[in-house]
Amino acid sequence: MHYFNYRNDKLFCEDVEVKALAEEFGTPLYVYSKRTLIEHFEKIKEAFSGVDSLVCYSVKANSSLSLLNVLVSRGCGLDIVSGGELNRAKLVNCPAKKIVYASVGKTEGEIRDAIKYGILLFNVESLPELERINKVAASLKRIQDVALRVNPDVDAHTHKYITTAKKETKFGIDLAGAKKIFLEAKRKYKNINLNGIHIHIGSQIIEAKPFVKAVKKVLSLVDQINSAGINLEYFDIGGGLGIIYDEERPQTAKDFAASILPLIKKRDFKIILEPGRFIAGNAGILAAKVLYIKESYRKQFVIVDAAMNDLIRPSLYNAYHKIVNLSRPPQVLGRRSQIKDRKLVDVVGPICESGDFLGKSRILDAVAGDYIAVMSAGAYGFSMSSNYNSRPRPAEVLVDGSKYYLIREREDYKDLVRKEKIIKI
Ligand code: LLP
Repeated sequence: MHYFNYRNDKLFCEDVEVKALAEEFGTPLYVYSKRTLIEHFEKIKEAFSGVDSLVCYSVKANSSLSLLNVLVSRGCGLDIVSGGELNRAKLVNCPAKKIVYASVGKTEGEIRDAIKYGILLFNVESLPELERINKVAASLKRIQDVALRVNPDVDAHTHKYITTAKKETKFGIDLAGAKKIFLEAKRKYKNINLNGIHIHIGSQIIEAKPFVKAVKKVLSLVDQINSAGINLEYFDIGGGLGIIYDEERPQTAKDFAASILPLIKKRDFKIILEPGRFIAGNAGILAAKVLYIKESYRKQFVIVDAAMNDLIRPSLYNAYHKIVNLSRPPQVLGRRSQIKDRKLVDVVGPICESGDFLGKSRILDAVAGDYIAVMSAGAYGFSMSSNYNSRPRPAEVLVDGSKYYLIREREDYKDLVRKEKIIKI
């Protein structure tokens, strides 16, 4: 569900025509729908409203301050992974007690800043990290709440780069190791209150099964810890809910809750959720302009002014994003599996890599000067963008009904060299 819809053959974001935004602000351009963002936050919040729960939006999915502000001002918490994300949380006045902090490599400085700010929980990924947090908390004369991120060794059946709970991944602590830490923590770490458990099993997960499997494994660990007289206050079940990019039929927030809640309802946990893509994914698109149509060896390339530096998901994960032409009536494409016997084109950017594509083998009638939109680019789009090939990063616009706001200016050449020095040697 999102608010990018056609009206009289024109793509609108809420009540604003996307092509008009592309013409006004130039391309490449990210366009976000406030209403889509809020509705997804509310969907997941409502699905878990029957239990004590807190939704902490995963900042890495899209860390735009204006988007964070929309969510935080409606009561959403934040899941952060770096000092930079903590800074963003502070800039939008996120209450400290609604912040959880994951990452396998938190530095001492990052830990100190987060403790000082008073965050709710660290999701700790290793024993040395736990020891470091204990030391820093002691130096600040604080007792810090901490959850252990466990690795339940389950396959989330998603792309291998975004699978995070199989034993060969770097994330979390194995179940036996975690148990040992829970049993010893009170005695060993005086400045830590180890009172939570955390999992995050991967991303773009479209079925409930892997979550259920992981939760069951973790609950059996919790039982063992409970029988040693240790009670946990928090169960953070991470993010990972999949969205529709193409033909997926992902679980809804309600389905997800219906699978998970019966397992944990009777326990006295505060449930934390860390959705990123579920909230931001379908709330954004990337608009671009067609520069050239090129034929080579009878293959057709639609060369546009957006590239892998603006949206790296197709190059990195071979991810599929629907692409539509904003300058023509919508093509009746049908499902991807039904488009045999049509001339297919590759939609590519100007970057000097064969991996620089936004879509391969697509049906897209286009001529130079047309505008296109790459759909479902709200999560892991701008936040993973770079300046590769010395390309300024795109501008971002947030639409609210019939109003729209430039929330990030397009970078210019000065921005690209701002921190550099020419050393004449
Ligand atoms: N919590 C933790 C600890 C995470 O590491 C992540 C994402 C999330 C929550 C949010 O996951 P989500 O609900 O968005 O699936 N760049 C990849 C996705 C990487 C996800 C990294 N961790 C992509 O473009 O598909």
